[in-house]
Amino acid sequence: MPFKIADDPQADYRELVRTAYNRCAMDYAGQKRTTPGAELNLITERLAPSSKVLDVGCGAGIPVARHLAETFSLTGIDISSNMIALAKGNVPTAKFVIADAMETEFPAVSFDAIVSFYAIFHIPRQKHLDLFRRFAQWLRPGGLLLFTIAEKDDGPGYTEDDFFGETMYWSNFGPSTYKKFLTETGFQIEQEGIVGGGFGGIDALEEVHPFFFAVKREGL
Ligand SMILES: C[S@@+](CC[C@H](N)C(=O)[O-])C[C@H]1O[C@@H](n2cnc3c(N)ncnc32)[C@H](O)[C@@H]1O
Repeated sequence: MPFKIADDPQADYRELVRTAYNRCAMDYAGQKRTTPGAELNLITERLAPSSKVLDVGCGAGIPVARHLAETFSLTGIDISSNMIALAKGNVPTAKFVIADAMETEFPAVSFDAIVSFYAIFHIPRQKHLDLFRRFAQWLRPGGLLLFTIAEKDDGPGYTEDDFFGETMYWSNFGPSTYKKFLTETGFQIEQEGIVGGGFGGIDALEEVHPFFFAVKREGL
């Protein structure tokens, strides 16, 4: 069976995700689309040059970190050291940190925007509300948040046996839960939409991912 339920709250799926991305970093990065989607304009059109932007689960840095680093002060974090090694080569002007988004610390109010593409669904969904609390803490009031989730609706976490030859783990809620989480953590949703899979090949046509664009409410 290529898909297996993996929804044990005691299990540490982080190691599985980290190991899989360390092993497939080159293959994954080699198949990524190299130009950013239009949704990234939601960030670039609203920020002053040199604003501080955090890319969570930045992977090899292409296309998102590279595009944002052309105008902004970009920090990328990723749990995979091999992904970060590629990102450093691809985007030499940005700062990169090997870190788990659920554990790393940034000073409060230290970013003007946070983006996260195709990454949150690799973190157990039981932790997602806490992740948005972290985002809210790191962002200034009025700060921007742009992220994708999985197309699948609510359901248990699962693994797939052949993601670029590796066993990979996914976990997500449906869009309505993320709307609740955003409201609860102090964000105002400004736009929802759909992005493709992000690959250069045929997958991009088949795979769709909802995205949310939200703003941290002033006065928080
Ligand atoms: C599908 S890739 C997306 C990479 C990049 N954002 C892109 O659009 O190509 C998911 C990335 O999230 C990273 N990741 C997964 N779990 C993470 C966590 N808990 N903290 C930080 N990064 C994580 C993975 O190592 C991987 O590089």
